[in-house]
Amino acid sequence: MFDALAGRYDLMNDVLSMGQVRLWRKSVQRILRVGPGDRVLDLAAGTGTSSVSFAAAGANVVACDFSLGMLQAGQARLAKSDPLQAKTRGRVAFAAGDALHLPFSGGAFDAVTISFGLRNVQGTREALAEMRRVTRPGGRLVVCEFSTITVEPIDMLYRRYLTGVLPAIARRAARNPEAYEYLSESISDWPSQRELANVIRAAGWSAVKWRDLSLGVVAIHVGRNP
Ligand SMILES: C[S@@+](CC[C@H](N)C(=O)[O-])C[C@H]1O[C@@H](n2cnc3c(N)ncnc32)[C@H](O)[C@@H]1O
Repeated sequence: MFDALAGRYDLMNDVLSMGQVRLWRKSVQRILRVGPGDRVLDLAAGTGTSSVSFAAAGANVVACDFSLGMLQAGQARLAKSDPLQAKTRGRVAFAAGDALHLPFSGGAFDAVTISFGLRNVQGTREALAEMRRVTRPGGRLVVCEFSTITVEPIDMLYRRYLTGVLPAIARRAARNPEAYEYLSESISDWPSQRELANVIRAAGWSAVKWRDLSLGVVAIHVGRNP
């Protein structure tokens, strides 16, 4: 599915989130707080939009995804853009890999992060355990994902947006509108903030906490590999 979305993926994110996705990514960057020399795995990285911001802060980033189409779109964008190359200075490596069987040795990373990807992996807890395997002891986890709105009347409006407005915009603007029906459904079916925190703990992470963004449209969960 993601191979078919790759060409317009980032544009559609901007349109459907009304630009909010950029603020959400900035929050991830602030919370992840990586710096020069840090080894970071950006899992389910897609076109590597977040990976680029971590590399711009000096980290060495592996952008890993199992969609070759998404990885190729990200690589092509980086290869074409002088400003992006100047910012990242060869610190982003694109790698094909499945979240459930990561092609990295144990403890290879100081921090592991996943944005808008965990919901799409078939095996949430298994992926979180695999992420822990490749994180060094004391290393960090940051998960950014759609979540549950905490204010009732706004939640009602948001659900209307998800089931009515979003698919209608996608029918006009996306090449593959069915994928956006899946997006709405997968957001509705996804666990709440507290439930996801419990799944993260069950996968062995400690010090698990979360922060809501945009009233809970998105939540960022953090954890530490004990
Ligand atoms: C909605 S995109 C998110 C991309 C990117 N992280 C971002 O913030 O824009 C979800 C990504 O998860 C990837 N994905 C889903 N299941 C995966 C798995 N088992 N292993 C690796 N990547 C996976 C898809 O290929 C897709 O690129």
